[in-house]
Amino acid sequence: MSDPYYITTAISYPNGPPHIGHAYEAIAADVIARFQRALGRTVRFQTGTDEHGLKMARKAAEQGKTARELADEMSAYFQQMCAALDISHDRFIRTVEDDHHRASQAIWQAMEANGDLYLDRYEGWYSVRDEAFYDEKELVDGEGGEKLSPQGTPVEWTVEESWFFRLSRYQQPLLELLRSPGFLEPESRRNEMVAFVSGGLRDLSISRTSFDWGVKVPGSDGHVMYVWVDALTNYLTGLGYPDDTELWRTFWPANLHLIGKDIVRFHTIYWPAFLLSAGLPLPEKVFGHGFLLNRGQKESKSLGNVTDPLALAERFGVDPLRYFLMREVAFGQDGSYSPEAIVTRANAELANSFGNLAQRTLSMIFKNMDGHIEAGLPLSEADVQLAAVVDEACQIVLPREFEGLNFSVGLEEWMRAVFACNQYVDEQAPWALRKTDPDRMNAVLMTLFRQVRTLAIAVRPVVPGSVDRLLDQMGVPARERDFAALADPDWLERLAASSFVLDKPEGVFPRLDMPEDEAA
Ligand code: MF3
Repeated sequence: MSDPYYITTAISYPNGPPHIGHAYEAIAADVIARFQRALGRTVRFQTGTDEHGLKMARKAAEQGKTARELADEMSAYFQQMCAALDISHDRFIRTVEDDHHRASQAIWQAMEANGDLYLDRYEGWYSVRDEAFYDEKELVDGEGGEKLSPQGTPVEWTVEESWFFRLSRYQQPLLELLRSPGFLEPESRRNEMVAFVSGGLRDLSISRTSFDWGVKVPGSDGHVMYVWVDALTNYLTGLGYPDDTELWRTFWPANLHLIGKDIVRFHTIYWPAFLLSAGLPLPEKVFGHGFLLNRGQKESKSLGNVTDPLALAERFGVDPLRYFLMREVAFGQDGSYSPEAIVTRANAELANSFGNLAQRTLSMIFKNMDGHIEAGLPLSEADVQLAAVVDEACQIVLPREFEGLNFSVGLEEWMRAVFACNQYVDEQAPWALRKTDPDRMNAVLMTLFRQVRTLAIAVRPVVPGSVDRLLDQMGVPARERDFAALADPDWLERLAASSFVLDKPEGVFPRLDMPEDEAA
């Protein structure tokens, strides 16, 4: 398989329905997956739900359900969300699945065989909300003087018999890993991890005996695995581990684990240590994205500002939402959103700029050229210049920025190229050439047709459904919608020689209504 690329999202706790943060991560990962496919790589993309642990068990008990019932019910919402957002994953993994239990037990046994596990008693602080153990010195004081985790969640004193993992052994290799360029991005997240490891690593408690909702520890009755041990292993399960499958040989190690910035410790310290212990190669990159704030505020049930991403997608359309999220927020940093901001951005850039350009171009070809495509028309200086601007933005800058996960920068360049095209339309005024110089009008319209195709293919990973509807109308075959197709000089000639005739075009980026009287 050519140039494999394996990308994963974090898997979410299905203790409630998905919120906008889940949608954001899924969309970003999907844009990366589609972009890599468009570059011609063989992509494997995995997402899913993280269903074990005390948080799930307690939430279910509160609702008078079994953990499995809650997991089934909520995991279904996450799968619906993926469908509604056009997420192109190859596998949606649920950690309750049999192959996942088997993979988790296999990595456990590999760590045990390496002499890294021992039985002892855990005594310390645990946050059920984070599903994380914390040292006393990491805790912060809450408003009422109570102790909280560094994430601001409640902690409880826990005492139980537990298996431990010899994390302390891995201090040196972890420091080297954290310092190696490109492993953890954005770089700003690195210092905190380096400080944590440099401060000395305590062995990690990795099993629980006080409840049984988890993967059974092999050969140790009454113990289930600490939920993060099995959760992280999902990245291996999906490739067939521990079997020597083709998927496994092709795609491990992962190219990118895309996660939220709050779980960087688990992915850049615990996870690599487990893999080193099990003798497995390490992922190439972990990227910790920022949080999305609702009008500058964190969403929470108590503030009553939790947004249902499915409702957003339904209201504004999935592609306007996808475009907004990738364009508005500098990837890696926190961002803010509101219905007004989504509408403003989508209207200005998708509807009024790119959508209008495409619609004007296709309508004029439909009306003034009877929908016929012509190749080989003589080009003016302005035509050649416009093509150079669009090619540079779409074939060089955008791919380079997307490769570096700088989506907003890539899209800004793309928008500049759209502006250049709209300016060209105004300057060339093809409608005025209809009577005076029809040959020149045709050359202008065909120049625009070319640029619309290029712009569409470049932005396709971000707004795939809309672009496909546009390219369908333009007669661009499904297999000519990747970056290699942009480098093919003969496509227009082929299209012109085919029997294709453009139909009356339909806009694919509708103008959205500005919400009125939104709660402030
Ligand atoms: N369920 C965890 C959370 O939401 C993330 C698990 S990611 C994995 O914080 F790597 F462990 F799978």
